[in-house]
Amino acid sequence: MPSAPYALGLTTANEHPESRALPVRGTLPPWLRGTLVRNGPGRFEVEDEAYNHWFDGLALLHAFTITEAGVSYRSRFLQSSAYTEAEAEGRITQSAFATDPCRSLFERVMTVFRPQLTDNANVSIHRLAGDWVALTETPLPVRFDPHTLDTLGVVDYDDTLSGPLTTAHPHRLPDGTLYSYVVDFSKPTSTYRLYRLDAATATRKELGTHAVRRPSYMHSFAMTGRYLALVAFPLVLDPLDVLLSGKPFIENFEWQPERGTQIHVFERDTGTHVTTVPTDPMFAFHHINAFDDGDALCIDLASYPDATIVDRMYLDALRSGWDDVEMARPERLRVNLKQHTATHERLSDTGIEVPRIHYAACNGQPYRYVYGTGNRTPGNFTDELVKIDMTTGNAQHWHADGCFPSEPIFAAAPRSTAEDEGVVLSVVLDTEAERSFLLVLDAESFTEIARAPAPQAIPLSFHGQFLDADAPLQDLHR
Ligand SMILES: [Fe+2]
Repeated sequence: MPSAPYALGLTTANEHPESRALPVRGTLPPWLRGTLVRNGPGRFEVEDEAYNHWFDGLALLHAFTITEAGVSYRSRFLQSSAYTEAEAEGRITQSAFATDPCRSLFERVMTVFRPQLTDNANVSIHRLAGDWVALTETPLPVRFDPHTLDTLGVVDYDDTLSGPLTTAHPHRLPDGTLYSYVVDFSKPTSTYRLYRLDAATATRKELGTHAVRRPSYMHSFAMTGRYLALVAFPLVLDPLDVLLSGKPFIENFEWQPERGTQIHVFERDTGTHVTTVPTDPMFAFHHINAFDDGDALCIDLASYPDATIVDRMYLDALRSGWDDVEMARPERLRVNLKQHTATHERLSDTGIEVPRIHYAACNGQPYRYVYGTGNRTPGNFTDELVKIDMTTGNAQHWHADGCFPSEPIFAAAPRSTAEDEGVVLSVVLDTEAERSFLLVLDAESFTEIARAPAPQAIPLSFHGQFLDADAPLQDLHR
């Protein structure tokens, strides 16, 4: 089957651990100093074994550093045990999202009693207390040095917050406090466990729990000034299947739309369960933002009508084309906390994925702009960047022929007053030139002001952060 042009970004890459200077076309803002660190899969085979799904590939970290001297780039594979074991043994040794290792009968039986969690943290990066960590959906953050990209080891929590599934998208307060959750499905009744991580002590405190018979696959969640909300889509798991089905992790989840979507709301400070409100079936990987509005909680998502998008990102399907795939659309869930009802409405007809906002200024607040990847030409995957005005549904677009951009990250200008005063950074795969470039857009006009081409193609990546050189201890942007 012929490959789609963007399949170049789904191809195993070499790492480039030594920093190399990149040429700059255009003019970078003089205030833009720091490092864009990105995370995503960069290796899709281990000798003659191949991973099945885009989410399975081994984590490759990328750093674009912007100084007075210009732009430099380096990349390194995360030295997780998933990676080092694969290197040492020449085979896939750890279960991934949709790929299991070949196991003997004895090994399969042992896995039932002692499930192994992968530390292939290939989804996102975050600041966790004093460390920068790479995250995936197992609760095994991997520390790394954001300047050298050296791997520093798995974070080992000294607590009892157990559960094999978590989110790679925790929320963060300006003082560094993190909010997140784990899903414990090791018992007949499963439990969502919300927790808060103290930035000064790096300790976790369980805030509240909520028991469910069939836990949902959730990739992210919502936080406002008052509430945390888990939007539980009807892509659900019978926990016994994980142990007994012999299928890779995600293939144990079933789409059961008759269950609807259950919105679980908790007080942010206490973890007290406030309500669970049903709404129509839907699916999303990413929340965009959420905010309190009187007696209502507004939760914005990049929403799909169902979960077929998960299947469309198996590598064979993804590399061969993107026909008949409907992009996610911005959708607002409005939860009435007095009447315990919810409504939802589409906020724009413009498709969007990997949405980002001006997190430091707007998370948990009413806001206006979201940036993301979009689809311009049907069947051509995410071939544009979009900026959507959530108050009008109108969108601005950036695209270039043969180019496939990654998640756009907003970096605010110093002392900015407007929500979109700053730049948007994206790593773009140019399939015609067979190389990638760092793209810098003016966020307000959404037009290019500079680019820095790398000498090689860089695999498409999932998420990143801009580490502001003037505020190195702050994670200003989710
Ligand atoms: Fe994500």
